[in-house]
Amino acid sequence: MRKHVLSGMRPTGKLHLGHLVGALSNYVKMQDEYDCYFMIADWHALMSDYENPGDIKQNSIEIVKDWVASGIDPGRSVIFIQSMVPEHLELAMVFGLLTPLGLLERCTTYKEQMRELEGRMLATYGFLGYPVLQAADIALYNADAVPVGMDQLPHLELTREIVRKFNSLYGKEIFKEPEAILTKVAKLVGLDNRKMSKSYGNFISLSDPEKVVRQKVFSMYTDPNRVRADIPGNVDGNPVFIYHDIFNPNKEEVEDLKSRYREGKVGDVEVKEKLASALNAHLGPIRAKRENITDEMALGIVRDGAVRASRAAKKTMSKVKKCLHQIIE
Ligand code: TRP
Repeated sequence: MRKHVLSGMRPTGKLHLGHLVGALSNYVKMQDEYDCYFMIADWHALMSDYENPGDIKQNSIEIVKDWVASGIDPGRSVIFIQSMVPEHLELAMVFGLLTPLGLLERCTTYKEQMRELEGRMLATYGFLGYPVLQAADIALYNADAVPVGMDQLPHLELTREIVRKFNSLYGKEIFKEPEAILTKVAKLVGLDNRKMSKSYGNFISLSDPEKVVRQKVFSMYTDPNRVRADIPGNVDGNPVFIYHDIFNPNKEEVEDLKSRYREGKVGDVEVKEKLASALNAHLGPIRAKRENITDEMALGIVRDGAVRASRAAKKTMSKVKKCLHQIIE
């Protein structure tokens, strides 16, 4: 019996390099070892976008394309959309019964999102329950491991508390306590040295054409003190070199650029030109694969995924309903 993985992303837009070196690279690797469920969390997206849900459907399709193009294999892994498997909401209801309000109110991600997404009315019952639904997503497939970024650790901890509570109330062995699997690159910095964010537009999408990648690289923030190429520069914490370290496989070239940069013996143009080439070499195969996936194909993938996910979800829900002394159909 292989162990289970579940992870999810909200359909808020096309995926970018931050997703690729974050959760996505782990997703791809984990397919060899685990039975994987990769979910598009459209209910979670709606919790903050319910006033303007217009893009959710197309965004979901784009994510399927990004995932498959990056190496998630719909033959091996289950790719599905949360709302197509209604058991997520059923289990969230059950978990809601036993989740203390205090835990949700104290959740750091909750407070952070409220601050960041100002201008939206998020003081809602639904949004407070965000981690409860996430716990249900994970527990429904009895996931052993959840590949996520650092920012999601509070939600994983809450999930563990909720399933522990469920198990202690209704019988020891119903749910496992899931482990977070963190990525190597904790957080990729934005092109402008700020936090990478949709609202800043400071990222490179997986589907950006070659020319756009090059333009974006040439707009990147570098050492602000280096107003001329012959001034010695700083490579540490410099986004251009952070990206070189991650995406340029030619380590000799990177070391050479760094030492000449430190000595003031290389221009930004050469550093950026080489980064653009490395990025385009990295993204080329993903881009090519992505172009061959139609909307219809993406829809077919999530319809098939929903059937497979439902099978597992229904099994879990009948166990849960037994615990609650409910009549099971
Ligand atoms: N909250 C996650 C995010 O914003 C998305 C998500 C929803 C998720 N359900 C999940 C991640 C279950 C892991 C497991 O990134």
